[in-house]
Amino acid sequence: MKIIRDTQRNCARMAAEEYRKLLNENPHCVLGLATGSTPEMLYEELVALCKAGKLSFKDVTTYNLDEYVGLDGSHPQSYRYFMDSHLFNLVDIDKTRTHVPCGVGVTDEMAAHYDDEIKQAGGVDLQLLGIGHDGHIGFNEPCDHFPVRTHEVALTESTRRANARFFAGEDEVPAAAYTMGVGTVMAARRVLMIVTGADKADILHRAFCGPVTPWVPASILQFHPDVTLICDEAAWSGMKA
Ligand code: PGA
Repeated sequence: MKIIRDTQRNCARMAAEEYRKLLNENPHCVLGLATGSTPEMLYEELVALCKAGKLSFKDVTTYNLDEYVGLDGSHPQSYRYFMDSHLFNLVDIDKTRTHVPCGVGVTDEMAAHYDDEIKQAGGVDLQLLGIGHDGHIGFNEPCDHFPVRTHEVALTESTRRANARFFAGEDEVPAAAYTMGVGTVMAARRVLMIVTGADKADILHRAFCGPVTPWVPASILQFHPDVTLICDEAAWSGMKA
């Protein structure tokens, strides 16, 4: 595992540099993308690099990790809306190549088909991840097994509480989401995880220094052959404990 530590802004800059290299080496690459507070600065950096002509998304294909059940792409808290407003509408990407799991009218079978689509596109070259306070990746919440494929999941109270800041209140946060499975994430050729803030120090330590267990879903990354972890000093402080 490659580990990079610095300030939050420099973490975003260094992550953006990984994308600049990848997109220049492989303009047709497939990116697995994420939402939430963690990637916001990275997307700002990527938009700036694209505007400066240092990278292009013209031939890139993207697959997002997850979407809330019940929200369509016009809902301001949907992840499709987030991606459009933070990245896709601001760079030269072909929107028809951008994929976010559909939040409405989806059956289990349709959700699992997302994995087939990713495979047909050649598989994910670089999967971006944050980590939830409970160790979730995507919306794979702690449970007694590692879910393999894209599926519907009930959100835990802790996740709904953490995400309430984006909604009018905790009750407004959807109770379920569609998420890539842990197997989908592990199939990516490379994983880039960004973790910032002292509030993530404990879970970062449990994920990378504790036992591999589905009760800390991110711990499975200990078995991934190519993970880059970019974190700030505050998040890293738990690793020294
Ligand atoms: P955050 O979420 O970036 O909003 O902290 C991370 C996650 O839940 O994966």
